[in-house]
Amino acid sequence: MTRFQPRLPQGYRLVSFDSIGSTNDEARRLARGGAPEGTLVWALEQTAGRGRRGRVWMSPRGNLYASLILRPDCSAGRAAQLGFVTALSLGDTLRVKLPATDSLSYKWPNDVLMHGRKLAGILLESDTGTGGELAFVVIGVGVNLVSSPRQVELPATSAAEEGFDPPSPGALIEEFTTHFRSWLKCWRMAGFAPVRMAWLAGATPLGELIRVRLENGTLCGRFVDIDHDGALLLETAEGRRRISAGEILSATP
Ligand code: BTN
Repeated sequence: MTRFQPRLPQGYRLVSFDSIGSTNDEARRLARGGAPEGTLVWALEQTAGRGRRGRVWMSPRGNLYASLILRPDCSAGRAAQLGFVTALSLGDTLRVKLPATDSLSYKWPNDVLMHGRKLAGILLESDTGTGGELAFVVIGVGVNLVSSPRQVELPATSAAEEGFDPPSPGALIEEFTTHFRSWLKCWRMAGFAPVRMAWLAGATPLGELIRVRLENGTLCGRFVDIDHDGALLLETAEGRRRISAGEILSATP
């Protein structure tokens, strides 16, 4: 158990661990057992942290590792929009906790960058019920506060490496849940449009030539927009392509 217990907004409940395999795995286990929306699993370190595309998420002490259970009444496709809700909430959190920074940006689909290097990642996982309906979504967030991994394919950074006095993970949780609560309310009441607009306003590298890794190969084109489902719209030599799953690599091969 951790000593500092963050105070969470109404409707949120904290389940904290000193060390755990993966907060996403624990949140999924709790959700399958009936844990309500708003349950937030937090650990000071993870021994089997997972990233997107089956990658390892290095999880030493000092950084933030947390996973939130949601039970949205929507399709799995629409629930993917929650990744953008989360990115915006992290962006607002980091702008408060790392003041005087105008160097944050959002990278499709769900990364938060500082000076073009990855500061935070988001892992969205969901389960369906017997009738195929969405049972729950687990939103895992990892924020590099005191350290970032070396020798990763895409460059990473941490608050400390960027010259900030890093906030504690608990303090970040308090701030994050407050912003998440209001962005979630916005999404539920007004839909994806305001979320999409806010995300695009901070997105990188909008309008530029990019290379995207797909399941089978890569694709080059100009990043023009995201659509109402959060899919990336790429203007290629062969016309506009809609990409629902992939990874932006760089501008040039
Ligand atoms: C990414 O690849 O960018 C997503 C990284 C998500 C990491 C977080 S840390 C908390 C939660 N538990 C995990 O095992 N992964 C997510």
